[in-house]
Amino acid sequence: MKFFVDSAEIDLIAELAEIGIVDGVTTNPSLILKSGRDIIEVTREICDLVSGPVSAEVTALEAGEMIEQGRRLAGIAPNIAVKVPLTWEGLKACRALSGEGKMVNVTLCFSANQALLAAKAGAAFISPFIGRLDDINLDGLQLIADIRQIYDNYRFETEVLAASIRSANHVSECAKIGADIVTVPPAVLKGLVKHPLTDRGLDAFLRDWAKTGQKIA
Ligand code: E4P
Repeated sequence: MKFFVDSAEIDLIAELAEIGIVDGVTTNPSLILKSGRDIIEVTREICDLVSGPVSAEVTALEAGEMIEQGRRLAGIAPNIAVKVPLTWEGLKACRALSGEGKMVNVTLCFSANQALLAAKAGAAFISPFIGRLDDINLDGLQLIADIRQIYDNYRFETEVLAASIRSANHVSECAKIGADIVTVPPAVLKGLVKHPLTDRGLDAFLRDWAKTGQKIA
């Protein structure tokens, strides 16, 4: 399973990329706002840092304008994936942009039927939002499982990019289900390393090591 970082914060992405766990990045208008940066500038910097797909989202509602914005965003770097919303206009833009050879990430997916349409429209990635479904008492992980089954049944090549990840549990459950990718906020990604028994075990080893009086020279 690939790890994407769900962020537009250069420093945080760089820190994670340093240990080789970043296979791509996703951004959205809210993350651009949070970064306080210009979308073109920050997206270019992210693309310089990460060789995998970097999603940048269009903000138009009509297909023609989405296509224009998508072309502008795709011009930033060869690893841009143009993010379009899961609307009828978004699907039209997906078909057109993927027909031009651009990677398209269809976002704001909340149902298996929406995911089916995105695959038929040529999406490289489908982004089902787990956390936002959980927020309204629906089962986000079940949606990932349903899409996995449907895509496997018909051998769709669209990659399942599980989004709106809120917890370490979301990450491991997505891996068990077989999501191709999880896009994870930096804090959740860093938190995956934590286990109290690791901390306790390390403390005990270091205490015993001090008692040996030895040094590794
Ligand atoms: C990623 O592509 C999505 O935009 C992001 O995961 C949404 O996460 P949120 O529901 O926590 O805002």
